[in-house]
Amino acid sequence: MKNSISRRNFVYKTVGASAGALVIPSISGFTLQDKTRGIKPLIITSHANETGQKAMETGWEILKNGGSAVDAVEKAANIIELDPEDTSVGYGGLPNERGIVQLDSSFMDGKTYSAGAVACLENIKTPASVAKLVMQHTDHVLLVGAGALEFAKAWGFQEENLLTEKARKIWLRWKEEMSPSDDWGSPEHLQNLSKNETYWHDFPDIEHHYGTTNVLAIDSNGDIAGCTTTSGLSFKLNGRVGDSPIIGAGLYADNEVGAAGATGRGEDVIKSCASYYIVLRMKDGRTPQQACQDALQMIVDRYKKVNPGYFPSEKFVAINKFGEVGCASMKGTRNPQISVRTDKGYDRYDGVVAFPGK
Ligand code: GLY
Repeated sequence: MKNSISRRNFVYKTVGASAGALVIPSISGFTLQDKTRGIKPLIITSHANETGQKAMETGWEILKNGGSAVDAVEKAANIIELDPEDTSVGYGGLPNERGIVQLDSSFMDGKTYSAGAVACLENIKTPASVAKLVMQHTDHVLLVGAGALEFAKAWGFQEENLLTEKARKIWLRWKEEMSPSDDWGSPEHLQNLSKNETYWHDFPDIEHHYGTTNVLAIDSNGDIAGCTTTSGLSFKLNGRVGDSPIIGAGLYADNEVGAAGATGRGEDVIKSCASYYIVLRMKDGRTPQQACQDALQMIVDRYKKVNPGYFPSEKFVAINKFGEVGCASMKGTRNPQISVRTDKGYDRYDGVVAFPGK
C-alpha cells in the first residue's frame, strides 16, 4: 500500500477514517572545497559519525545511478532515523517531558520550490518520508500531530513504539534529577541571567539536547534537495515544535543557489529564519562556509543590546550549486564536522567554530 495511494483515495480514506577569520579546512593538502568544486552529484549530512557515513553511501548509490536528489536525501535520512542508538533523530530519539517521542521533519525540492513537513508526529519511525509525501502529494506544507499521523497511516506507514529502553532510561533519570528550582527557560534576552536552572539543565547522559540531522544533495541534473529530521529538544513541553519542520528556519533549498540546514537551539533558528538567510547570503556571492558563519553572526548581533553574553548553540550546514560545502557552529572546543560523499569517495569536512571560548 505504501506510496501507492492517489490523492483522491487519500482524501476518501481519511474522510472515512565570525564571525572570526575564515579558516578553509584542509584534507590531505587540498581544501575539500577545491576537491568538490563543480563535482556533481554530491550529498552531505551534518551527522559525521558511522551512521552518517552509512547514510551517505545509501544516498550515493541513488545519485551515482542517475537518481534524484529528492530520493537520495530521503533514503539517506531514513538510515539516520532508523538508528536506535541515536537519541536525537527518529526511532530512539529522546522523548518529551511526558515520555512521548514526538518527531519533526521537513523536506524541500529546490527545483520546484515544493516543500512538505510534519511536526509532533508520533509512532512513525521515518518522518522524513512522511514529509516528502506531504511535499509531493498535497498542496499543503505542514501537518502536525494527529493529522500528520493520520496522513502517514493513509500512506501505509505502520505505528510503532519509538521509545527505546536506552531513551526511556535517560528520560527516567532526567525526571529523578528535576528540582523545584528548575523552570521552563526564559526568553532569549533573559537567558543565562536567571538563577534558576532550566528544566533541561546539563545532564551527563546526553550528548546534545537539540540534536538533529540535515541531509542536502545535488544530483547529476543539478537539482538540489534537502531534508531536516529530529526528535527535537529533549524533554520539551508536550507539543513543542522546533525549527526542523519550519521551511526557511531548519531547511531551505533553491536550485539557483544551493541549500542550507540547521541543528541546535531551534527557537533562535526559527526567529532568525536562518536557513533562508544562508541561502540569501550565498545568492549574494558568499561561499557556503561564509554564509553559515554570517548566519551565526546575525543571531549574535541581534542579542548584543539586550543580552550580550548570549551565544545559543547552533550548527549550520550548506551546499551551493557549484558543489562547495560549508559548516559552522556557534561555540565549542572542536570544529563541527559534516559527512560528504562525491565520486571522489567519502570524506569528513571540518567546519569552523564561529565564537570559540563562548
Ligand atoms: N533543532 C532542533 C530543535 O530545536 O528541535
